[in-house]
Amino acid sequence: MDDKIKDLTGKLRLAHLGGGQIRIDKQHEKKKLTARQRVMYLLDDQSFEEIGALVMHRTKDFGMEKQKFYGDGVVTGYGTINGRLIYIFAQDFTVFGGSLSETHAEKICKVMDLAVKVGAPIIGLNDSGGARIQEGVRSLGGYADIFYRNVQASGVIPQLSAIMGPCAGGAVYSPAMTDFTLMVEDTSYMFVTGPNVVKTVTNETVTSEELGGASTHSTKSGVAHKTSPNDVECLEDLKSLLSYLPQNNTETPALLPFELQDEVRENLSTIIPDNANKPYDMHEVITGIIDEDSFYEIHKNHAENILVGFARLGGRSIGIIANQPLFLAGVLDVNSSKKAARFVRFCDCFNIPLLTLEDVPGFLPGTDQEWNGIIVHGAKLLYAFSEATVPRITVITRKAYGGAYDVMNSKHIGSDMNFAWPSAEIAVMGAKGAAEIIFKKEINASEDKEAKWKEKEAEYAELFANPYSAAERGFIDEVILPKDTRRKLIKAFAMLQNKDVDRPKRKHGNIPL
Ligand code: HXC
Repeated sequence: MDDKIKDLTGKLRLAHLGGGQIRIDKQHEKKKLTARQRVMYLLDDQSFEEIGALVMHRTKDFGMEKQKFYGDGVVTGYGTINGRLIYIFAQDFTVFGGSLSETHAEKICKVMDLAVKVGAPIIGLNDSGGARIQEGVRSLGGYADIFYRNVQASGVIPQLSAIMGPCAGGAVYSPAMTDFTLMVEDTSYMFVTGPNVVKTVTNETVTSEELGGASTHSTKSGVAHKTSPNDVECLEDLKSLLSYLPQNNTETPALLPFELQDEVRENLSTIIPDNANKPYDMHEVITGIIDEDSFYEIHKNHAENILVGFARLGGRSIGIIANQPLFLAGVLDVNSSKKAARFVRFCDCFNIPLLTLEDVPGFLPGTDQEWNGIIVHGAKLLYAFSEATVPRITVITRKAYGGAYDVMNSKHIGSDMNFAWPSAEIAVMGAKGAAEIIFKKEINASEDKEAKWKEKEAEYAELFANPYSAAERGFIDEVILPKDTRRKLIKAFAMLQNKDVDRPKRKHGNIPL
């Protein structure tokens, strides 16, 4: 028995070494943790249980028989984060660059299957050169097996991805189908084809960072939801993100202990500028409403004219969608519509109530937007809100103009409670533009056109640049004092917590993609 135990211990020691000390040192030189260090840091002490440490690839081609490593480039298993069960896979770049072989894929599929059967989140720490080139189609098949499972698990358990090294080819599509993708700055890349292929095919010269670094994907493409300066902070970000989420779609996120006190926030009364054309930072409104330091912003640097993220309100996990007057006056455009729609759908999948903070002058006009399909992309957000069955509340802080009024979780598309501040303006368009159109003849016929225009603008503003017309019809449930917003929202979300909506039976809707 002693010999057998020694034999096993030796094999496990080798498994822990991955591709060997030289490659581990290289990984550290690049300021990257190894796969195992990442897993150990992320999970609670002593909680990790490994599955498949002794798996090896089955390839014989290209001399691969002589190059075998226990674990085959991925560490898989389960453990806990703050006491909650999660399943995990972490690709080991020290073994064939973390590339995906048939057996590597089988290991990932095994933990994904367990996660779905048990109903617990799956976390993927990605660091991979893509398909294991020596394996050909077996590797492609392995990828497809994972993609298929990503889709079956979508909306059933939270799927979180961290990109912690180069991720090329097939290695990017699984993260893209998970719920959130976090990237480490300077050491991680995501691209379907790398700079060399780009040069050959399109003759563009581009660096890895420009093509698919964390900054590119968190600003331009929106592929990354969040970035972190290093591995440790990325893992911390994963832990915080998880704290807002339930284990699966049959549960609600944990409610933290909370006792209602006066909850009055006087500073909310001074945020909206007197001049309706002046911007202000919607973050201030969010901070004034939510529990202290609880905003976890998603897509912070992408489509900045809308803010989305998780927060706690009275201990309850909520999703916030808020127009941001600081950028493009908070208009809805292609990117902001897509960003918000995806977030709304995630929250709806996982029973996270939605709070919409609205100050929107409308959709962004122009050829660029029209040619890029603002009609279809704007419709995504309209569709996402309309199909959401979680508790939904809107607060109009200032502008709610045009189609954007309808889209931003209006009463008409199923919102449960709609509040407005006294500063709200709810109309088809701003008073100036409206006066120009409907009083055109009168303005043109008058001697002092400018004065007439101003007079008509004031007339229109008097009628619509306020929340009362909408409140009279019940489109707004209550016009509230800004300082009372936090208390009103805590009580309204508590009132709505048992909301239960049945929809007609169907296979699935057909969201405009
Ligand atoms: C097998 C691979 C590999 C791969 C890297 N390695 N990628 N082995 N298959 N795909 C191995 C290297 O041979 C090397 O082995 C070790 O991993 C580290 O690689 P380096 O190149 O030395 O590292 P680095 O300079 O950091 O560059 C990392 C890299 C580069 C950017 C990922 O290796 C690279 O470009 N790899 C190929 C990427 C790619 O084209 N993949 C296929 C995509 S097609 P040793 O023994 O020296 O340590 C694809 C199709 C799927 O994925 C589509 C599904 C939809």
